[in-house]
Amino acid sequence: MLGIVYTEFMDMVKDRFSEEVLDDLLDAPGLSTEGAFTSVGYYTHTDMIKLVVTLSQVTDIPVDTLVEVFGEHLFGVLISKYPTLAEGKSNTIEMLESVDGTIHIEVMKLYPNAELPSFTCQRLGENHLLMQYRSKRPFSLLALGLIKGCAKYYGETLEISHESFDTESMFETHFDIRNLS
Ligand code: HEM
Repeated sequence: MLGIVYTEFMDMVKDRFSEEVLDDLLDAPGLSTEGAFTSVGYYTHTDMIKLVVTLSQVTDIPVDTLVEVFGEHLFGVLISKYPTLAEGKSNTIEMLESVDGTIHIEVMKLYPNAELPSFTCQRLGENHLLMQYRSKRPFSLLALGLIKGCAKYYGETLEISHESFDTESMFETHFDIRNLS
């Protein structure tokens, strides 16, 4: 996972919890870097899982909630860093439809070593989207948080249900998304 994802995670921990909680996380055993992450580095995604599991132990907040909240936060950070990615997209569903074919393609140009999931979208109605996540990494709840962050960006209200079909080698989640705005 890109270093920028780690440094944003740490900033969020510092802001929402404290510097002490962040220090506890970085002392967690088994991190590949012994707690030294830079925004331009690249680290195994299992480090992120270890950090979130430790944060859950320290704060007593479930891992799933923490990952989702981080996704929501991350969307805001990424879109303010790369605002042109939202150009021409006037609502959440249009934006979500462009993640696989446009946004993540641009991400690959910026960060050629990025490891991204794939999404297949099916429009079931003007305000109704089926979005299927597939990845070798277990970050479907990060996707859920990113989707919610996207809705927040557009000031829209979504109703989202999701179901996972994970196998040993592939994580797959289907998001059924309705725009209620
Ligand atoms: C709502 C829209 C989006 C969704 C649902 C989404 C989904 C995801 C997910 C789930 C991951 C984790 C990797 C994995 O699961 O295999 C990821 C990684 C990433 N996404 Fe997106 N994304 C969205 C929008 C964006 C935007 C707007 C940017 C802007 C630059 C972006 C840039 C990235 C980057 C840099 C990574 C990290 C890649 C790595 O660590 O190697 N994404 N995305």
